[in-house]
Amino acid sequence: MKLENGIQQPGFLLALRFLALVLWSFPGARALDNGLAMTPTMGWLHWERFMCNVDCQEEPDSCISEKLFMQMAELMDSDGWKDVGYEYLCIDDCWMAPKRDSKGRLQADPKRFPGGIQGLANYVHSKGLKLGIYADVGNKTCAGFPGSFGYYDIDAQTFADWGVDLLKFDGCHCDSMEHLENGYKHMSLALNRTGRSIVYSCEWPLYMWPFRKPNYTEIRQYCNHWRNFDDVYDSWQSIKNILDWTSSNQKRIIDVAGPGGWNDPDMLVIGNFGLSWDQQVTQMALWAIMAAPLLMSNDLRHISPQAKALLQDKDVIAINQDPLGKQGYRLRKEDNIEVWERPLSDLAWAVAMVNLQEIGGPRFYTISIASLGQGMACIPDCIITQLLPVKRKLGFYQWTSDLKIQINPTGTVLLQLAAN
Ligand code: GLA
Repeated sequence: MKLENGIQQPGFLLALRFLALVLWSFPGARALDNGLAMTPTMGWLHWERFMCNVDCQEEPDSCISEKLFMQMAELMDSDGWKDVGYEYLCIDDCWMAPKRDSKGRLQADPKRFPGGIQGLANYVHSKGLKLGIYADVGNKTCAGFPGSFGYYDIDAQTFADWGVDLLKFDGCHCDSMEHLENGYKHMSLALNRTGRSIVYSCEWPLYMWPFRKPNYTEIRQYCNHWRNFDDVYDSWQSIKNILDWTSSNQKRIIDVAGPGGWNDPDMLVIGNFGLSWDQQVTQMALWAIMAAPLLMSNDLRHISPQAKALLQDKDVIAINQDPLGKQGYRLRKEDNIEVWERPLSDLAWAVAMVNLQEIGGPRFYTISIASLGQGMACIPDCIITQLLPVKRKLGFYQWTSDLKIQINPTGTVLLQLAAN
């Protein structure tokens, strides 16, 4: 039922709202004290789309080379990506030469990166962007290039000297859990000691889970974001697996997320080959609800206008980047519909409803407004705007209202509920 604007709010309801604000504003565990990633990192990361293609003879346009990153940097600047917040251009595995130099320093493959990483960093900075790089806590990277074990301090200093702004630190080829944990901590401290602001992106919990439960409070003290689960693939199954893992473990992981430290469900694969339009909408909506780093892995030289508009949707990005920094969670799952919600600043809420039924057409779903936001999303009324799949104002609703929406198979409807 819709309400007219301008209705008086009873005093006790205002008090409830105030209480909610106080409760939601409690900080999580202490974050890595480097002042970075106060909202989830946004940028581009090469892995899912370009993997470990080192054959620049056969595939000059898609091999891992400075040319690829320079082209992406140019497009991030000229095609509106930087303007909406995508700032970090990140190199993943396979950038290195197979051996360290005579002083024990990592070096870029000289054929594929003739200007070196420093030259690339200068170029990326000249476009108003930041550069991310990749290394591994173990004896080798996952693809078999030199690992940082035994070289943490040298590598941190090398990255700082080159002007690197983010390090993705992988966890392959570790001999023991102690090696893994101590290595992740050591590198965090080594990066801090360089005095350069370097976002520290970890995979520590992912590599720990098979052996023991990670201590997230501790991880947050060392990392700006951390991967928990398998690598994302360009497929609906992969997106579903990530969402299932996240909701199954939400009690353990959501409270620890907040300004300075985030759970990382891996890259956005929007704009590639494997997801339908509705599935791309689902990934964008749910990555916003999960307060996930938004690291696209796609080819900005060849991307459809529709995928570009979705990735550049300012309203959805604003939810992802909400300054309150609370990660959302799955509220319920019934009859193949999942409802997720996320508290936002100014007592607003984001609500995502996903239709997981892969047979039939669009389905209607009715939700009682009172069941959202722990009963406080719409007291005594609110304005609801649908943001995805298309933006449209739904109008004023009251606490006692029901809301009926229609969701495509494997698609999501993303709503914003704002105080009236
Ligand atoms: C691991 C990581 C991926 C990617 C590859 C590179 O699988 O989880 O994100 O960095 O290594 O080899």
